[in-house]
Amino acid sequence: MTMTDVATRIAELRRQLDDANYRYHVLDDPAIPDADYDRLLRELDELEQAHPELLTPDSPTQRVGGAPSGAFAAVRHAIPMLSLGNAFTEVEVADFVRRVEQKLDRENPTFSVEPKLDGLAISLRYEHGRLVQGATRGDGATGEDVTANLRTVKAIPLQLRGDDWPDVLEVRGEAYMPLAAFKAYNERALAEGGKVLANPRNGAAGSLRQLDARISARRPLAFYAYGTGLVEGGKLPDTHSATLQRLREWGLPVSAESRVVSGSDGLLGYYRRIGDKRDALPFDIDGVVYKLDDYADQREMGFVSRAPRWAIAHKFPAQEQTTVVETIEVNVGRTGAVTPWVLMRPVHVGGVTVTRATLHNADQVARLDVRVGDTVIVRRAGDVIPEVVRVMPDQRTPDAVPWSMPRQCPVCGSEIVREEGAAVWRCSGELTCASQRREAIGHFASRRAMDIDGLGERHIENLSELGFVKSVADLYTLERDDLLEMKRRCDERDDTVPGTVKAGKVASRWAENLIAAIARSRDTTLERFLFALGIEHVGESTAKALALWFGDIEVIRRLPWPLFKRVPDIGGEVARAIGHFLDQPGNQQVIDDLLARGVSISDAHPPSPKLREGLDMATLLVDLDIPKITRLRAEQLAAVFKQVDALIDAPEHNFVTAGLPAETARALAAWLDDAGNARLLGEIGGALSRLDVITPAAPTTVTGPLDGQSVVLTGTLSALTREDAKVRLEALGAKVAGSVSKKTSFVVAGEAAGSKLAKAEELGVEVWDEVRLLAFLGEHE
Ligand code: IVH
Repeated sequence: MTMTDVATRIAELRRQLDDANYRYHVLDDPAIPDADYDRLLRELDELEQAHPELLTPDSPTQRVGGAPSGAFAAVRHAIPMLSLGNAFTEVEVADFVRRVEQKLDRENPTFSVEPKLDGLAISLRYEHGRLVQGATRGDGATGEDVTANLRTVKAIPLQLRGDDWPDVLEVRGEAYMPLAAFKAYNERALAEGGKVLANPRNGAAGSLRQLDARISARRPLAFYAYGTGLVEGGKLPDTHSATLQRLREWGLPVSAESRVVSGSDGLLGYYRRIGDKRDALPFDIDGVVYKLDDYADQREMGFVSRAPRWAIAHKFPAQEQTTVVETIEVNVGRTGAVTPWVLMRPVHVGGVTVTRATLHNADQVARLDVRVGDTVIVRRAGDVIPEVVRVMPDQRTPDAVPWSMPRQCPVCGSEIVREEGAAVWRCSGELTCASQRREAIGHFASRRAMDIDGLGERHIENLSELGFVKSVADLYTLERDDLLEMKRRCDERDDTVPGTVKAGKVASRWAENLIAAIARSRDTTLERFLFALGIEHVGESTAKALALWFGDIEVIRRLPWPLFKRVPDIGGEVARAIGHFLDQPGNQQVIDDLLARGVSISDAHPPSPKLREGLDMATLLVDLDIPKITRLRAEQLAAVFKQVDALIDAPEHNFVTAGLPAETARALAAWLDDAGNARLLGEIGGALSRLDVITPAAPTTVTGPLDGQSVVLTGTLSALTREDAKVRLEALGAKVAGSVSKKTSFVVAGEAAGSKLAKAEELGVEVWDEVRLLAFLGEHE
């Protein structure tokens, strides 16, 4: 590359990265997967390192944080950073509005309203559009210079967009830790036996207070702007809401929830709306803020001591409370993880009464030193499980004894073991442990998974205890008589009085209803199915993303783990967890059984063509996390070897010939020596060709004997996969649909076809078996 080429490429990479940041943080409309972002960033970093003269302070690479600084310098705020008065009740809000109305001598004044984020107030100084200083609020008059740390926050632009900003613009807002980052941080800390953060706010404070900005960079914070301070050499609009809009145009993130409303009805309506949404927001808020929208009105109202009279914070119920620990117990989850819990004196927190709180794991109990009888602080945020945050040591009784993990599973008696270096203790009973089975089945049947109505905890316990259901797939072989037998045996065991004739009728209706509910659950979506499998780290949003991007269980279950990283928001740890789950033959068997027993996924579709965008061999090699294989090295390899599986049998010296330094070539050869890694490369080759095959170009252009016909596939075919059948039918012009209607031309029914077959019969739609399908394909292809 010539110097001009390098400079052009650097400018292009910076533009792409800044744009990706803006789309993600300001527009909330991400454009590229995280892995691609990292790839562009690495390429930029490599170019800048090779050409240090082209490095600029506002380059996206300059967010990584510099070496430790001795201490933070003091920053005097030109305009003090005030705090807000609080309102806790509707009456207090009405009083506030009345004060404003009296002073302004006007009814129903207009307010700009926003969520009150629970983070830390910061000030950002932009000169000629460039970020020059970031400071904490401190005591309101003087804060600390935390510029280096704030530069690591990707939501904070280093350079403003547009060109019509004031010469000097001080932006004020809240730096906070998003809940996902908080959870991820704590999960990692727990796994590594490190110190967990008590809440996201402490996480944000800790990150900003780091003298080593590289550590801040690893505790990702986000930012919302909610106002301005000093403005010189330019003018802002006349209202707060219009200013927020300007800030947004200049590339600063502003809450998408901010609104303009009037009078106390408007304020209280907003409070309730945000309150309803609180649990679903990706960050903690502790209330909403009401501000008079018009700056002239604000000036008229003025200030009292350290708070404005033109604004107020309306707080939500507290999320932390104190209570007393009554006992400590353990729970065995669906992956065998043994989690200690406290049962405690009931306490009202975050709007509900709680009696149980999680202690996460044994290390956490040891770190907190929670003992029976202790007074503790519990926290409940959103719909997450309440947790113990801290013990109040001065309220401990002298006879309280430290807790230790039991050696045996309280449910199945198997040994409780801990893997080398891991924080989690696991019951070694696997599927012989009734608790693990129960939890897995309970999760599978739950409302947001397969949604089997009426299959409650107790039924699951009995079914698994009596051996009727050993894996989730066994639910689909249950018959009415099994349920009645279970009920009879339970009554016997529990010594219930022998049933009357009436009770017998009730029981049989109950069994029929449950069987019907199980049958209904067979028709499901890919997203629910994936979530229901109970893969570690695969919650609803990950399941949804997988379904959206890959489209088909048959594709997903054969995918090598690095390809999962192609989905935005799926990182290495989650990708590996999915791969690990799919590598277990037992789990593949369960998937086979479920499909064979009539579970039918209605929304299968080809993988997103986006998966292949920007996916070349070099990217794949980088995604594999091979030691020493940087972007540059991966590109050298790709240029020579062309295909990932070509690396498998290549001798080490060929890597040197391809341009790798000897040490890197050795590291790669050592990595390839591992049979598992070599196999993985082979599988990637296969998976890629499958992704290509099943991404056919516009099937509508096909003309063939099945033109204009709509076909539905159901049940399991033995000679070909459903995906193959679909591709081949489409090649003959058919449209393959997910559900049966009057418009369906015919249904192909395999083994154990369920409700779709019934529907076809009901509507009088023609039904083909596999033999007929194969004969037809043989004749027409
Ligand atoms: S306005 C003069 N707006 O709440 C007005 N503050 O108790 C100053 N906060 O220190 C603040 N979200 O840390 C404002 N949308 C919002 C806010 C907000 C959170 C915090 C901020 C401030 C504290 C005031």
